[in-house]
Amino acid sequence: MNIGVAGLGHVGLVTAACLAEVGHHVVGMDVSTERVQDLRRGKAPFFEPGLDLLIGRGLREGRLRFEERLPPVVEHSDAVFICVGTPSLPNGEADLSQVEGLAVELAGCLDDRYRVLIEKSTVPVTTGGRMFRTIARLTECRCDIVSNPEFLREGSAVHDALNPDRIVIGSASPEATTVMREIYAPVVERSGCVVLETDVATAELIKHASNAFLATKISFINYIAEVCDAVGGDVEIVARGMGLDQRIAPDFLRAGIGYGGSCFPKDVGAFAAIGEQVSGDSALLRAVQDINRRAMRRLIEKVRSELWYLKDKRIGVLGLAFKPGTDDMRDAPSLTIIASLLEEGAEVVAYDPVAMPAAKELLPEQVRFAGDPLEALHDAHAAMILTEWPQFAELDLAEMKNALRLPIVADGRNVFDVGRMRDAGFTYLSMGRPAVEQ
Ligand code: UGA
Repeated sequence: MNIGVAGLGHVGLVTAACLAEVGHHVVGMDVSTERVQDLRRGKAPFFEPGLDLLIGRGLREGRLRFEERLPPVVEHSDAVFICVGTPSLPNGEADLSQVEGLAVELAGCLDDRYRVLIEKSTVPVTTGGRMFRTIARLTECRCDIVSNPEFLREGSAVHDALNPDRIVIGSASPEATTVMREIYAPVVERSGCVVLETDVATAELIKHASNAFLATKISFINYIAEVCDAVGGDVEIVARGMGLDQRIAPDFLRAGIGYGGSCFPKDVGAFAAIGEQVSGDSALLRAVQDINRRAMRRLIEKVRSELWYLKDKRIGVLGLAFKPGTDDMRDAPSLTIIASLLEEGAEVVAYDPVAMPAAKELLPEQVRFAGDPLEALHDAHAAMILTEWPQFAELDLAEMKNALRLPIVADGRNVFDVGRMRDAGFTYLSMGRPAVEQ
């Protein structure tokens, strides 16, 4: 099938590359000339395992190309995925100006051929209906709006897109649903995933509800970690004990400095704003946000309690990306934590295996960057682990101890085994697990 993808961020580009991979003819479009030119040369604008390979193959085999303007994309396509950004407004609501702008532009590009316009960006419930009304006011050309939320995770986006747990098709039109089934037939065939057909609003809600629920699960376990820190107990064993109950399940019960990234912080805020509008009550999701903010502060408090004051202390920070496997720094807990450290007068030397170029753009100039983990720890009063990159868990503990000025490790992601750190002679402070004091 001929498919267009408008907006080549994480979701759009992965969608475009994966749909080309399964045999469709895809034209991706982005307003950034630089991004489109890089993509034409096969270069992805961000780090995502396996994506370069798919883009290269799609380009070589003629199933994938990139444009800077919308008209040739619509002309090529039977269906156009809408993957533009939906960032947060200052009050937490989703900023839908890019979605509105694209709807208007799409209306101007339609012709006498029927098109399915697919809302893939995460949007508040009712957005699909509003888009349809906007387009219908501007043109009589035939089209339908479908909500088809994406559930891929950064770092495993290609795998997730090709092997989804479910495909949700929110549609009011049997004709559009048939097109969607055709688009996803190769993915369903290879993955055997469930296809859930519903109306547009319900599909929009499934996406927001899923992200809000996962964020709630993380804040719930971080709340348990707070209790463990205060009264004793080991949050990892509590999580294991909970996760063995099939109704709870073990995923997303890793305690730490909380969730970041381009999705959970934004989506929890936007869903809470909807709650306020419809019922005046967003207490549950506001508590999720509060616990998440507290998780970052708790790690700083642990370091401060060991060092008395952070002023003039050097902190070696390991990990900057919001999670391993990505160079994405959007809403990364490291940004908040490093800003607080600097505010209290600490000196920060940081290392991340892939996110340093992106981090340099966002972090204050005082932050120094190291060429490897041990260099970041060199002469530091404490190490802080903010992202659980696997290579940090493999660091030689004796070398780490030699590099540090004081053998203090504050582990915001519970990377190390408590007993090993005790045996290696560290003061080891992790999240919701027994502290080791030397
Ligand atoms: C998330 C969802 O998992 C995807 O299903 C969804 O498609 C995506 O948002 C989106 O809306 O586009 P992503 O943001 O890539 O995906 O990352 P996750 O793996 O979900 O992690 C989010 C954050 O939660 C990270 O900061 C991670 O460190 C944190 N986390 C995750 C925890 O603190 N504890 C956990 O147990 C799990």
